[in-house]
Amino acid sequence: MDAQHRLDELRRCRRCPLWARATQAVGGEGDERARLMLVGEQPGQEEDLAGKPFVGPAGRLLDHALSEAGIARERVYLTNAVKHFKWEPRGTRRMHKTPAQREIEACEIWLQQELARIRPRIVVALGATAGRALLGGPVTISMLRGRAIERDEYAVLVTYHPSAVLRVPEKSRQQELFAALVEDLRLAADLASVKN
Ligand code: URA
Repeated sequence: MDAQHRLDELRRCRRCPLWARATQAVGGEGDERARLMLVGEQPGQEEDLAGKPFVGPAGRLLDHALSEAGIARERVYLTNAVKHFKWEPRGTRRMHKTPAQREIEACEIWLQQELARIRPRIVVALGATAGRALLGGPVTISMLRGRAIERDEYAVLVTYHPSAVLRVPEKSRQQELFAALVEDLRLAADLASVKN
């Protein structure tokens, strides 16, 4: 099946109610032969409108972290655990809402298809939602980060979500989390052998 057919199929998904309030489903993007896959939570406001993953503020922070880690964005495959933007109205704004377990489970089929197609060596879970989707249970980032967790076909590395880094109010703590994200990405790249 080619990329357009896959996207058409994804955009017809009605496995959970999130499709109804989103602009469109956002599929993964990047190197179809990538050894390194990065999985986020769900598209945000900008991704929902653009139809592409990680193009908003979290994406810009991720780009910065990838570049610090010596990884070219076009050599990895980027996707999300949940493919529709979940939000609630706050005045005129659409505020991000964390997906529920049943929504993560409903979307699992799409992530599994991407994993089966790309066959990465290393999968980086950006944040707890992606960690949950990939490891199948509650995830505490600070306890699991920094090491590869072997699965049958690939290893999972859990790290901070770029939005979590952005949300930290204190500058020095934000720098610590950013440094940890870069360190984890560097480790993932080493394990997947995708350094520039
Ligand atoms: N946050 C995510 O988890 N994924 C995106 O694509 C954008 C923001």
